[in-house]
Amino acid sequence: MTLQAIKYSRGKLEILDQLRLPHQEVYIDIKTPQDAWHAIKSMQVRGAPAIAIVAALSIAVRSAHWLNGQGEMMAATARDSAVLINGQLDYLVTSRPTAVNLADAAAKLKAVVSAAANKSDADSRAVMAAYLLAAERMLVDDVQDNERIGKHGAAWVLRNTTSNASNPMVSVMTHCNTGSLATAGYGTALGVIRSLHSSNSLRHVYYTETRPYNQGARLTGYELIHDGLPATLITDSMAAALMRTKGRSENITAVIVGADRVAANGDTANKIGTYALAILAKYHGLKFLVAAPRTTVDMTTKSGADIIIEERPEIEVVNLKGPIVRTNVFSREKEIITDSTEEICIAAENTRAWNPAFDVTPAELIDGIITEHGVVEKDDWGVFQWDKVFDVGL
Ligand code: MRU
Repeated sequence: MTLQAIKYSRGKLEILDQLRLPHQEVYIDIKTPQDAWHAIKSMQVRGAPAIAIVAALSIAVRSAHWLNGQGEMMAATARDSAVLINGQLDYLVTSRPTAVNLADAAAKLKAVVSAAANKSDADSRAVMAAYLLAAERMLVDDVQDNERIGKHGAAWVLRNTTSNASNPMVSVMTHCNTGSLATAGYGTALGVIRSLHSSNSLRHVYYTETRPYNQGARLTGYELIHDGLPATLITDSMAAALMRTKGRSENITAVIVGADRVAANGDTANKIGTYALAILAKYHGLKFLVAAPRTTVDMTTKSGADIIIEERPEIEVVNLKGPIVRTNVFSREKEIITDSTEEICIAAENTRAWNPAFDVTPAELIDGIITEHGVVEKDDWGVFQWDKVFDVGL
C-alpha cells in the first residue's frame, strides 16, 4: 500500500495528521481554506510541495461543492469568483513564508482564474470550474514530476559517485522528510533514494533525526520502514562521525536533500541543519545534491540572502511534542503517554531558544540540483547553468 499524505476526490480533501505520526494514523478533513491555513501553520501537513497542493485543493473543495449546487452562494459573476478565489489564495500564502511552492502555485492559479474571468462569455461557474481543474492537475503533476526526479537523480548518483562498476551499490544520507508525506507522492530526495532502491543500487540510507520537529525520526523513518528500505536513524550531531567512520566501508557517496526555495544562483533554503551537512559533505568528499521540482527554483530571488527564513516558536525547541510512546524495556509493550496536543519539556525552566525552521546552503557547496527535467550542473566557473542538465533521457 502506498503512503498518502493527501487523499482527494472531487469535493473531499483529507490529510494525514503528521503531528500524530508515527504512532497514530489519523486523517483529518480539510473543508475550507481556513482549515488548510491552520493545518499548514501547525504543520499537520508540511513539506514544500504538499502545503502548496493542500492549499490549492482546499479552495477546490469549496468550488466543487458550489458547482454542485451545495453550500452558500459564493459569487454571482465571473469577476466575483475571481476576487473570491484570489483573496483566498492570498490568505493561504501567509501561512508559511519560506517555501516558494505555495506562492508559485497561487500565482499560477491566479493566472488561470484571470484567463477564465476575462473570456467574453465568462460566468462564475466557468471561473470556478477552470480553477478546480487547474488545482486538481497540480496533484497529478507532482507525483509524475517526483518520479522523474527520482530517475534522473539515481542515474546521476550512480554515474558520478561509483567507481566500482561491478559493485555499484551506494549508501546515501538524507535530512528532514522529503517523501510521500511531503509531496503528493513518491517524494523528491526520498524519491531519488526510492529509485536507487528499486534498481537494486541502494546499499543503505542514513537519515537524520532533524531536530527540533523530528521530521526524520518520525516521518522519514515511518516511510522507510513502511517501504522496507535498508535504513538507519542518526541524530543530527552524528553526521560527521558517520561520514568519517563509515563513509568508506559503507560506500556513503552522497547527501541528498530537498528544498523549500532555490535562488537564481543556486543558494538553497531547506530544513535547518542542511547547511551543516553540506559543509560536512565537502570536507569528507561526498557529493551534495538538492532534489526539487523546477517550480522550487525562484528566479526572482537572486541569492539566499533574499530568502525569508521562517522563525517558529521557542517552545518547539524547549519541548518535545507528542504522541510520545513509552516502551517497556522488558516486555517491549508500548503505551502512548502523550497525544499530539501534549508536550514534554526537555530544557531548564525559563530557557530561551532560537528556532529558525530553515537555513540557506550556499551554491558553492552544492554539486547538482535534481529536477524533473534533469540534474542541473555547474559550468567550469562553478556557476549553475539552468539549461545545462544531465538528462537520463526520459
Ligand atoms: O518544515 P517542513 O517540515 O515543512 O520542512 C520541510 C523541508 O525542509 C523539506 O526538505 C522541503 O520542504 C522539501 S519537501 C519535498
